Amino acid sequence: MSVETGQDIRVHEGAGRRPTLEIRDLNIEFSRRRVWTSVVYDVSLKIMPGEIVGVIGESGSGKTLSALAALRLLPKQARVAKGSVQLGDVDVLAQSEVAMRDLRGNRMALIPQDAMQSLNPTMRVGLQVAEPISLHRGKPLRSVANVATRLLETVGIARPAERAKAFPHQFSGGMQQRAMIAMGLALAPDLLIADEPTTALDVTVQAQVLKLLRDIRDASGTSILFITHDLGVVAELCDWVYVMRYGRIVEQGSVTRIFTEPKEEYTRMLLAATPSLHSPLHGGKRS
Ligand SMILES: Nc1ncnc2c1ncn2[C@@H]1O[C@H](COP(=O)(O)OP(=O)(O)O)[C@@H](O)[C@H]1O
Ligand SMILES: [Mg+2]
Repeated sequence: MSVETGQDIRVHEGAGRRPTLEIRDLNIEFSRRRVWTSVVYDVSLKIMPGEIVGVIGESGSGKTLSALAALRLLPKQARVAKGSVQLGDVDVLAQSEVAMRDLRGNRMALIPQDAMQSLNPTMRVGLQVAEPISLHRGKPLRSVANVATRLLETVGIARPAERAKAFPHQFSGGMQQRAMIAMGLALAPDLLIADEPTTALDVTVQAQVLKLLRDIRDASGTSILFITHDLGVVAELCDWVYVMRYGRIVEQGSVTRIFTEPKEEYTRMLLAATPSLHSPLHGGKRS
């Protein structure tokens, strides 16, 4: 750590502050033809209250599986072989499935990469946004519909009362992603986990969604774990960044330090491959 240069101070860290999420020595295995193979090795990372943490790495480096493990949403063929996940005071890996259902939504919410695929095409957007409140608080869906309108307004959707009655296909890609964010915010979780949420969006809309996430953090102190393969996005949004490669974390640091003094050859390579880091609206690579 280059603490002596004063550039790698984790500003959200403080004496006695407990991380919102802390993953320790996480190992994940995948079953291929009935043989378990390691795909994530000794991943340790944390997110402090009010902090936006980036996890960057090329496709296949283990970003999504690490996040899904924290949510206990790994696919059937994958398992946690070792490690711990602490969400505030909760030992996530020790929870029952019923307890997990309560934690998801209430304490942490996932904003997926493809909003359109995650939205129910046959259900009005407002009702979908309100559904977590209805399920978790045991209230009839219609009775919480007005909350959905307010949430849609929070995420910057114009004419929210009218838009709440629309179906997902009547929304643009950016609006669909905003609706997913509204749904994630419904129960005011401490942590949002956003897995490449802007990858499918064009650059202008992407910048608007990043600004929205930053505004949410500034207004509510929500911690955000932001997964991306795009260093430009990290530069715009994050306070702290972990660099992953081949299932391991190879470097971590403040965004300023990573961008000015990358230690790992791999991080330097990623920086060199991100052409327009210094323009305000850099063109993110899309996959
Ligand atoms: N459905 C799958 N079947 C087999 N292996 C998988 C599957 N999903 C992920 N993996 C393995 O786990 C690794 C990490 O995947 P993932 O976490 O999705 O990477 P990332 O999100 O960084 O692109 C992959 O490189 C692959 O080896
Ligand atoms: Mg992924």
